[in-house]
Amino acid sequence: MSEKEVRRPRVVLVSVGSYGQKYLDEMTQHDAGGDVVGIVDVAENLADRFPVIREKRIPVYRSLRDFFAERQAELAVISSPIHLHAAMAEECLEKGANVLCEKPLCLTEAETLQLADRARETGRFLALGWQLNYDRAILSLKRDILDGRFGRPLRMRCVHAMRRGRNYYARSGWAGRITADGWEVLDSPFMNACAHNFQMMTFLLGESMETAEDVASVSGELYRGNPEVENYDIAALRFTTRHGTEMLYYTAHPLETRNLGQDGEARFERGTLTWGKGKHFIMRTDDGQEIDYGADGNTPMMQKLYDAIRCTREGEKPLCGPMAGLSHLHAVRLAQNLPVRDVDSAHVRWIEEGGDAFPCVRDLEDVFLASARQWALPGEIGLSL
Ligand SMILES: NC(=O)c1ccc[n+]([C@@H]2O[C@H](COP(=O)([O-])OP(=O)(O)OC[C@H]3O[C@@H](n4cnc5c(N)ncnc54)[C@H](O)[C@@H]3O)[C@@H](O)[C@H]2O)c1
Repeated sequence: MSEKEVRRPRVVLVSVGSYGQKYLDEMTQHDAGGDVVGIVDVAENLADRFPVIREKRIPVYRSLRDFFAERQAELAVISSPIHLHAAMAEECLEKGANVLCEKPLCLTEAETLQLADRARETGRFLALGWQLNYDRAILSLKRDILDGRFGRPLRMRCVHAMRRGRNYYARSGWAGRITADGWEVLDSPFMNACAHNFQMMTFLLGESMETAEDVASVSGELYRGNPEVENYDIAALRFTTRHGTEMLYYTAHPLETRNLGQDGEARFERGTLTWGKGKHFIMRTDDGQEIDYGADGNTPMMQKLYDAIRCTREGEKPLCGPMAGLSHLHAVRLAQNLPVRDVDSAHVRWIEEGGDAFPCVRDLEDVFLASARQWALPGEIGLSL
């Protein structure tokens, strides 16, 4: 059978932790068009946590080396801790597997370019798990932006914060860390859990369907609301992109509201785009048109898996490749250089709920929403945490 005729790609799931288990669920509860032929994870007793492993007799390996010594796969789906992605992706490409790697791909531009080269040299694809880049509403909006329908982008802003407490940080050794086991991880809400809307803004302005608009500079305010976290966990950031668009982003974990936002707006020369949780992407043009692109939720989050399996089968390449995350990576690194202020513990109230404990910074929601309304950083309008 030729490469193009692989009717049901064999898939290896590399790490089935908090997020990776979604791939396991999707592939064992639905027909995604491929078959799981192995799992690679170092966690003990995985089959007790996921009985389906035993039911479907899925072999579990402790390393990619062990897996590839016995089996082959046309697609590897990597959901391991961030600092392991680059080496794992490279190993899979070298063994002839296409790769769908969870975001972020890695932590440096050099590694990103090296991995893109490895994918080219091996003739395999390296796709990333930025699910909004697979969203049909967002793709059709991006096509119209690229066609110049709304003119130049002037400014964009988005608030997206999610409450996270002790259990979230306790789930692994890299959560909330700047480094883990000597590796850089730079974990934060901006880097990780709430990265998607920022990456989407850069993706929407990218000069091609595969690329994202790069950032050139940052100013901003970083805070640590949860004293148990090493890195910052509250960020209000203003980037200027390479082509001069202002991008404001507000994100945090220590807040009372479980999910604040997403709530976004983008002004173009000839129109204003709005989007938000449960809302459609709507562009209102200056000549009175209202273009409804639909909601991002209409495309399933796992579309990326289905696209990767289809592309593996058809010998194609998913749109979201290594370059799609490069601008977010630059933004994370720029932000990481800003000073971090500790929020006074008198402003942090701990609440207990569902066996978890959450630090909540007083009035954080109001500070973010008021700042976003005025396209400002909190300090610029006299607010502080
Ligand atoms: N796309 C999204 O919406 C989304 C959401 C959450 C997380 N993620 C991404 O998914 C990735 C994993 O995040 P997580 O929160 O699930 O992490 P996690 O720490 O909860 O899980 C990591 C898994 O990797 C396994 N692991 C650790 N070392 C390993 C090794 N050497 N070899 C094989 N497996 C190993 C662990 O046992 C665990 O099962 C990250 O890149 C994260 O950014 C994406």
